[in-house]
Amino acid sequence: MNGSGWMWNEARVAVLGGGTIGESLIAGLLRAGALPPEHLTVTARRSASAARLSSTYGVCAGTDNREAVDGADLILLCVKPGTVPEVLDEIRPHLHGEQLLISVAASVPLAVIEERVPGGVPVVRAMPNTAVRIGYGITGLCAGSFASAAHLEQARSLFSEVGHVVEVDERHMDAVTGLAASGPAFIYVVIEAMAEGGVKAGLPRDTATALAAQAVRGAGAMVLETGEHPALLKDMVTTPAGCTIDGLMELEAGGLRVTLIRSVVRATERAGDH
Ligand SMILES: NC(=O)c1ccc[n+]([C@@H]2O[C@H](COP(=O)([O-])OP(=O)(O)OC[C@H]3O[C@@H](n4cnc5c(N)ncnc54)[C@H](OP(=O)(O)O)[C@@H]3O)[C@@H](O)[C@H]2O)c1
Repeated sequence: MNGSGWMWNEARVAVLGGGTIGESLIAGLLRAGALPPEHLTVTARRSASAARLSSTYGVCAGTDNREAVDGADLILLCVKPGTVPEVLDEIRPHLHGEQLLISVAASVPLAVIEERVPGGVPVVRAMPNTAVRIGYGITGLCAGSFASAAHLEQARSLFSEVGHVVEVDERHMDAVTGLAASGPAFIYVVIEAMAEGGVKAGLPRDTATALAAQAVRGAGAMVLETGEHPALLKDMVTTPAGCTIDGLMELEAGGLRVTLIRSVVRATERAGDH
């Protein structure tokens, strides 16, 4: 229970902005059985988007952010960064200190949110990725000045239903964005390219894609479950004078390593362009 007297999994949750990440969170929370659909309300700009979300997930959906906030204990702000000020100005008179506001907007610092909401409203900043949809997400969290340890725990509990959670200092949120929120896009390119290699080698495309995706899933799980350094795990695959070392030579010659480093750094810098 938090300082406001509600348990997060009994909370009424309003998702403001049912786009890519808002919908992924709704789908993930329902899939996990974390909340009943009738405890979830989602808003969108267009009524057609709201109608689709309502019929797909059985949640309450509409275009009125104020009404959604009035009935909510926990509010997930999932609109584009540029829309955040407009939505905060709209809901400000409806927010109070018994609620918890969680913003997933990239590049919008806690201070910017806090200056637009009434004093005392607890705010947590979160950076999830789209894999929350299937329970394989990773979410970075940091607490604002009015959020207690109990509020942070509420946020942790919610995002733990849809994947892993790390607490970070706010100065690291742009790096969480560049690595973990943008990261799936980089890895989809890797999977697509590895599959092309399989197709070039004669595999049917769907088989090649499944092999590439499962190899990536297995490698990720090996890093997480063994706790070994990725370099050691790579060495275990690389038999002396075998085929993997030939492939690794091509990979290094093509600059994949430095390209991925630069990709994360560039995405982090972009996230920091407040
Ligand atoms: N995509 C990701 O992987 C990801 C990951 C982590 C964080 N984020 C953050 O999540 C936020 C949303 O990104 P996204 O990719 O989900 O964007 P998106 O797909 O464009 O979704 C934005 C949603 O906001 C709705 N919306 C627009 N104006 C609104 C308003 N005034 N009131 C209520 N809803 C409104 C839109 O409604 P319509 O559908 O009717 O247009 C749409 O459903 C961003 O701040 C981003 O930084 C995204």
